[in-house]
Amino acid sequence: MRLKQCHNFHDYRELARRRLPGPIFNYIDGGADDEVTLRKNTASFERCDLVPKVLRGVAEVDLSVKVMGQKLDLPFYCSPTALQRLFHHQGERAVAAAAERYGTMFGVSSLGTVSLEELRRKHKTPQVYQFYFHKDRGLNRAMMQRAKEAGVEVMMLTVDSSTGGNRERDLRTGFSIPMRLTLAGMAQFAMKPMWGINYVTHPRFALPQLDEHVDMGKGTMSIGRYFTEMLDPSMTWNDVSGMVAEWGGPFCLKGIISVEDARRAVDIGCQGIVLSNHGGRQLDGTRTPFDQLAEIVDAVGDRIDVMMDSGIQRGTHVLKALALGAKAVGIGRYYLFPLAAAGQAGVERALGNLRDEIERGMKLMGCASVSELTREDVRYEVSVGSDWR
Ligand code: FNR
Ligand code: LAC
Repeated sequence: MRLKQCHNFHDYRELARRRLPGPIFNYIDGGADDEVTLRKNTASFERCDLVPKVLRGVAEVDLSVKVMGQKLDLPFYCSPTALQRLFHHQGERAVAAAAERYGTMFGVSSLGTVSLEELRRKHKTPQVYQFYFHKDRGLNRAMMQRAKEAGVEVMMLTVDSSTGGNRERDLRTGFSIPMRLTLAGMAQFAMKPMWGINYVTHPRFALPQLDEHVDMGKGTMSIGRYFTEMLDPSMTWNDVSGMVAEWGGPFCLKGIISVEDARRAVDIGCQGIVLSNHGGRQLDGTRTPFDQLAEIVDAVGDRIDVMMDSGIQRGTHVLKALALGAKAVGIGRYYLFPLAAAGQAGVERALGNLRDEIERGMKLMGCASVSELTREDVRYEVSVGSDWR
């Protein structure tokens, strides 16, 4: 199977599976506990149908959106993800370049493997910096200052990770940073020697967002310990409120699921919220962002930009989210698998696929621009004894 034969999420996932050592593939692919939420994230789109309108003279479509003050050519952006250098040697460089080519926003994780400064210098489209809340308040301030000096547009605080999710695939293989492979995990690495050769013949793995502040890259601190020792599980709305004020620009919370929290995000002055369950990687059994979307848009959509991620695999998923009122959607594995499969060329091809699917879907829906997609364009399946709208 080659890149040219990849046309959708499943094709890229399969190519990534063939190329990556099992422990790395499973780190990307897996979720928490029984992976119920992971599966539901995508399945929830299937309970909502599109209702197209015909003969509306749609020859051209405008896919651009404005979200948190940023103008994007597409209604989706690349959500921040960790450790991309492990998936492909081009890592974040490939993702940012592909996002720029399509005129959309890209996220850089605080566990990213290329510095936020380098990416901000090289690429023009809006950049999100994703970070966690540390016990050391000075460190939080230093990180925001650094992002500000680099010219990062949007700060994104991840709030669904006060502790790590129970990822049993990783426990079985021993995937962690630094690696503590089990015998099974080692055997899986041995089966992919090309990945190993590629890994050692390209620039070293690093965590430049953290290196300056935390003694990590030199192997003194694992990511597991980073989460348990450095991050502050006792953070509250009050703490975050102070950060929002200090940043003074677009600030959003990633990992909101409840209506009450969406309201609080408005109260503390956030400009955006991302409804997300971290791609099913944190609390298994969480309700899906798509199923919560309409209720949250109704509650706060006129006061804050509501976005969502988790489970997006098709252009029609994006259309459904936009119709329910999302301002834009984030993708994770959708770009990670093609990154792992083929670097920048892979990510570009995949983003192109998603763009084409959305464009085709808009034409078939009879919508010339994203703002024309409304609740009238979708219907939920009726299901006995539940609360479908
Ligand atoms: C993530 N995600 C994530 N989120 C975050 O806030 N900081 C991070 O460092 C990471 N790292 C990360 C690594 C990998 C391998 C994955 C798959 C995901 C979550 C990510 O931003 C996004 O919320 C989900 O990926 C969305 O779900 P889908 O699109 O992957 O189904
Ligand atoms: C993950 C963390 C790093 O999902 O956010 O793996």
